[in-house]
Amino acid sequence: MVTLFSIYPQGITATNIQDAIALFERTLITPDSPFDLYLQGDQDALSKVQKEGYKLFKSLGCISCHQGRNVGGTLFQRIGVYATETQLSQLQEQDQGRFEITGNKQDRLIFKVPSLRNITRTAPYFHNGSRTTLEDAVSDMGRLQLGQELSKQQIEKLIQFLESLTGIYSGSAS
Ligand code: HEC
Repeated sequence: MVTLFSIYPQGITATNIQDAIALFERTLITPDSPFDLYLQGDQDALSKVQKEGYKLFKSLGCISCHQGRNVGGTLFQRIGVYATETQLSQLQEQDQGRFEITGNKQDRLIFKVPSLRNITRTAPYFHNGSRTTLEDAVSDMGRLQLGQELSKQQIEKLIQFLESLTGIYSGSAS
């Protein structure tokens, strides 16, 4: 049986904690998602609907925030760019975002734009886990971040595209 002491004979030390975290983080790198293969030139790695979803992701403007290698994770952005006053005050009541750390007024409701890799596997969504389905999360994004009421069909295509961001997990799930 693998025990803490068979892996780390010195037990819990700063170096061992760093090592364990680094090993764990390495399992979070999940390469070779269909989208990665597609970007590497495999035209068939995405289905027709996923390609349409990718087009929408770009044309609607999701990509202006969820950008780069990890389709997010590179920016801080305001939540509720298109929110009504009432929605804004509701959002602020719950969590004021970066403002809570920096104390700068302009950081109110600024949050990290998360990576969307493996997103279909990581519910619930948002910093507070307030959405349990991807349908609701994507619909909220349309309304709050783009000022658009997305149709069911658009949401479905976007979700199919997001599914293509699921890579190969090399850790052990047990
Ligand atoms: C103006 C910037 C912006 C735009 C545009 C935007 N997002 Fe987001 N997105 C964010 C931020 C910031 C968060 C984090 C919200 C939070 O934690 O409360 C987020 C969160 C998400 C999440 C939940 C991620 C998680 O791990 O919980 C999904 C899914 C998502 N966005 C998809 C989309 C889609 C699809 C679009 C286009 C329809 C889009 N976003 C457009 C900034 C943006």
